[in-house]
Amino acid sequence: MCGIAGYVGDEQARGIIIDGLKRLEYRGYDSAGIAVAGGGGLQIRKAVGRIDNLEKLIAEEPVKGSTGIGHTRWATHGEPTWANAHPHTDQEGGIAVVHNGIIENYAEIRAWLKEEHGVEFRSETDTEVIAQLIGLMYKGDLLEAVFEAVSKLRGAYAIGAVCAGEPDRIVAVRNDAPLIVGLGENCNFLASDIPAMLKYCRSIYFIENSETVLITKDDVTIFNAKREEVKRDIYHVTMDADAAEKGGHDHFMIKEIYEQPQGIMKTIERRMDGGGRIKLDGIKLGKGELGAIDRVYIVACGTAYHAGLVGKYAIERFAGIPVEVDIASEFRYRSPFVNKKTLFICISQSGETLDTLMALREAKKRGARVLSIVNVVGSSVARESDDVFYTWAGPEIAVASTKAFTTQMMCLYLLALYMAGETGALDSGRFQSLMDELKQVPEKISEILAREDEIEKIAKRIYKKENIFFIGRGLDASVAFEGALKLKEISYIHAFAIAAGELKHGTIALIDMDTLVIALASQDALNEKIISNIKEVKARGAEVISLVKDGNAKIAGESDDTIYIPACMDEVAPIMAIVPLQLLAYHIAKLRGCDIDKPKNLAKSVTVE
Ligand code: G6P
Repeated sequence: MCGIAGYVGDEQARGIIIDGLKRLEYRGYDSAGIAVAGGGGLQIRKAVGRIDNLEKLIAEEPVKGSTGIGHTRWATHGEPTWANAHPHTDQEGGIAVVHNGIIENYAEIRAWLKEEHGVEFRSETDTEVIAQLIGLMYKGDLLEAVFEAVSKLRGAYAIGAVCAGEPDRIVAVRNDAPLIVGLGENCNFLASDIPAMLKYCRSIYFIENSETVLITKDDVTIFNAKREEVKRDIYHVTMDADAAEKGGHDHFMIKEIYEQPQGIMKTIERRMDGGGRIKLDGIKLGKGELGAIDRVYIVACGTAYHAGLVGKYAIERFAGIPVEVDIASEFRYRSPFVNKKTLFICISQSGETLDTLMALREAKKRGARVLSIVNVVGSSVARESDDVFYTWAGPEIAVASTKAFTTQMMCLYLLALYMAGETGALDSGRFQSLMDELKQVPEKISEILAREDEIEKIAKRIYKKENIFFIGRGLDASVAFEGALKLKEISYIHAFAIAAGELKHGTIALIDMDTLVIALASQDALNEKIISNIKEVKARGAEVISLVKDGNAKIAGESDDTIYIPACMDEVAPIMAIVPLQLLAYHIAKLRGCDIDKPKNLAKSVTVE
């Protein structure tokens, strides 16, 4: 979590760092700060709230210098106050540190620094411990001091440090939190994520775990944990810088909702050959490999987990292989049946979610083969997996995940069908009709987007509700979970999703005249069942908005209002059914005046456990 941006070169560092931080605001945004090393020692500016506040402060109280580090924070230790904002300094104020992640043994180190060395702490953060530790170890060489300090830390972190006495360098360290170095002309950059430096450079080094890097304007030297210099290949970023901008839309979220047909098309195009077969990006998953596995385990967080629920259904239904789905933060703390016979599928947009990364490592330790479905090329999950199946959604900036979700589902459908092709679990006619259906998804989503006005109308009618239930059966239940998540994360309305058949086992006690129920009914095979659930809630006075396929007059007739999606096979309906719910959440949040792309308390990339 949090974002780091740093610069060493000939230009003034402040503008470049602020620009970088703005592009990282999706990683956290409850305070921001900058430390610049110049002629007059270290100059630090910090402000609570968005980066704009920091920018205003710097305009009033400028900083000068061509080396600096900056940070945008998502609070973990200590409230989002000025004192807790990064950068943090050592006792003398000569060393400044920014940090992403969590130092697990910070309390012990803090106590030791206080008792043994009389250090006085000015914040509640774990980060200050790092700054104080580096300060204590500093004997005129920042690199040495960082090496010494880091050897005492436990946890997940990316750290950047500058020093008043050595104003021409940044020293940075990575351990389980993303960190990259950008290579410019007569300048170099430090960041936690690529968008921070896209405007300035396209050649980067990925820093690996336990590595320390010394950055000056002319040189970048990477060291391993044994302090030996290591060579790294340069990675050339092809990502379109414009793709990370809003392109005329009010928010990134709506831009990304509209990018779904194109993203799904890209995800499909590369995987279907002319002969109606699926290509798996060179991933070896033939009859032999599939014969050697007895189960698939899908692990992810948040929206990606909901895609996993759909993936379970598709793999079991199409390929006949049993699938477990787990939330990554739970997976590690039970005794999962994962071994050499398991195909472990990780799903992650960012590829940096720490819970997911840790689950991946646990699965590897247990001997499983790891295949990840990831959006960010070169991310930690991608690099640590045996195989990667990329979603070609393009950069997703809004915290609420939309196009990553639909492309993740598409990848899972493709994977399931590929497996079915290998195991022979589907007859060729059904295989072909499912393939044809998948190819039509981008166009059908475009049709749904063309109906945005209808969704906006519904949003205008219901945006003041404080309690919304989402119900569905089978695949619709997975969509209900995701629909409710979209609504609560950006509009702050209490939304609760439940498999419709479970209502009667307790939750129905909450249904009354003030309740709004969104009933997902995209599954023709379960139509009769969901009608009973609609009747149950209507009998208790609830208002019902149903989501059905075009032409489903029966369910529309039972509902107060109806959202339509184009007719399609039940199996692929989730990839379409979620789109109106994304639009509904978006319009409701907009009408409520919420900060849609940066919802409170949330961050896009969650690199803490
Ligand atoms: C955060 C985001 C969610 C996302 C989840 C998993 O909580 O706010 O939108 O679904 O992390 O992220 P990942 O990058 O692993 O898909």
